[in-house]
Amino acid sequence: MRDVLSSALLSDGATSTTHTQWLADEAATVLAGQHLAAQLAPGMTVFLEGTLGAGKTTITRGILNAFGHSGAVKSPTYTLVEPYEQLVPPVYHFDLYRLGHPEELEYMGIRDYFSPESICLVEWAARGEGVLPLPNVVLRLTPKKCEESQAVGRELTTIVMTY
Ligand SMILES: Nc1ncnc2c1ncn2[C@@H]1O[C@H](COP(=O)(O)OP(=O)(O)OP(=O)(O)O)[C@@H](O)[C@H]1O
Ligand SMILES: [Mg+2]
Repeated sequence: MRDVLSSALLSDGATSTTHTQWLADEAATVLAGQHLAAQLAPGMTVFLEGTLGAGKTTITRGILNAFGHSGAVKSPTYTLVEPYEQLVPPVYHFDLYRLGHPEELEYMGIRDYFSPESICLVEWAARGEGVLPLPNVVLRLTPKKCEESQAVGRELTTIVMTY
């Protein structure tokens, strides 16, 4: 499977800016999501990259918090998408880990979700390559040990795309 970001960068005229920061604990990941939400606008697509347990759903919780959602954020592993349609703008959180084939997204009416009115946050976007739109923002989470404390935290790389 090709790296989704490499594919995005191959599209004509695409450029990106990259910013890396250290997230010491879960609270820092939530806060990073809250801050990032200020950069999001209706119609935008965010890809969340990282291994199992990297913190993709945790940073999603921060983004949803900033848009006014205070409850739990469950991973839509089996349903593929969790809608937050009460929010302004509406947010759709995808977890495509169990997607068998990108075409399954066509059957679930993917184009209705990726509308100019909503924000879509997508975990495991590589599973839907070719059917999903290109991302406006890629959030890449990497578990790492802090050199000083040896505690495990996360490195967050934020990549903002322009096409
Ligand atoms: N900065 C951090 N430092 C240490 N632990 C963190 C940090 N951010 C999140 N975590 C922890 O990482 C764990 C996994 O989080 P999460 O469920 O968000 O991962 P995920 O990437 O969505 O996994 P999956 O691929 O299974 O959906 C949680 O236990 C959370 O507390
Ligand atoms: Mg998750």
